[in-house]
Amino acid sequence: NSIKIFAPATVANVSCGFDALGFAINAVGDEMIFTKTVDKGVTISKIEGAELTFDSRKNAASVVAWAMIDEAKPDFGIDMQLFKKVKPGSGLGSSASSSAGAAFGVNQLLGKPFSNLELTEFARLGEKAACGSPIADNVAAAIYGGFILVKSYEPLEIVKLPVPKELWVTVIHPQIEIKTEDARNAIHPTVTVANAVKQSANLAGLISGLYTDDYELISRSLEDVIAEPFRKKLIPHFDAIKTEGLKAGALGVGISGSGPTIFALSKGEKIAEKVAETMRNIYQNTAIDFNIHVSKVN
Ligand code: HSE
Repeated sequence: NSIKIFAPATVANVSCGFDALGFAINAVGDEMIFTKTVDKGVTISKIEGAELTFDSRKNAASVVAWAMIDEAKPDFGIDMQLFKKVKPGSGLGSSASSSAGAAFGVNQLLGKPFSNLELTEFARLGEKAACGSPIADNVAAAIYGGFILVKSYEPLEIVKLPVPKELWVTVIHPQIEIKTEDARNAIHPTVTVANAVKQSANLAGLISGLYTDDYELISRSLEDVIAEPFRKKLIPHFDAIKTEGLKAGALGVGISGSGPTIFALSKGEKIAEKVAETMRNIYQNTAIDFNIHVSKVN
């Protein structure tokens, strides 16, 4: 009658895949408890770790739960408890872990009537409630795990991608908040043909690299000409972190989702730790508080 789940944080975009790529980080995530109730409907009885609304028609997680019970029409209700470890506005898919976690958890209590693709559709409603756009990159990564491609939005199509065995991620989260909506508004609304070609060739290069374990190709493909040039000014010391991270041996460094978290991909744990050390040194000499995590991508 009750289930406790872990909903991973996620890195979206992965430089060259704006709104199309994402992967889950198993080292960081929210915990959620779902309990069947006699009264029908959805309630939130606890939220720890973030200032979020208890209004179940507005909270991203419970909006997802409402949509699911409206469709499945169970003879019970659902109470949710949220233990937020992924900070809102971090660029680590905070609303997505709540939304994807809700989709997964409620599906378990309902007896698993919905597929992963359907769960991703439900979870998108939470993203819409949180930031105004039903973006799928973070929620799909949290639901499917590993690396995913949002091949299409209408109709929704998700492709699960392979992950090379030695792929590690370092994430540094400066404790400032950037709202996804603001970060989306910062991007220039039109893209030149030259940049569209660059971005799609990089995306193809990255995906080929994932399939062939070609770390050099992955490295050469981790470039973003659509969002990063406009968004990086919102993130303190982004250029220094990127330059030093690459010097330390990272395959690529970019903005995680809409920021301010910065991610780096590396071949092997040792380099990922060295990259973390370099990033730490840069923020340590500033007044900015930060968190760093190193995790295998899988
Ligand atoms: N792809 C989204 C963005 C991620 O960069 O705005 C945030 O959900």
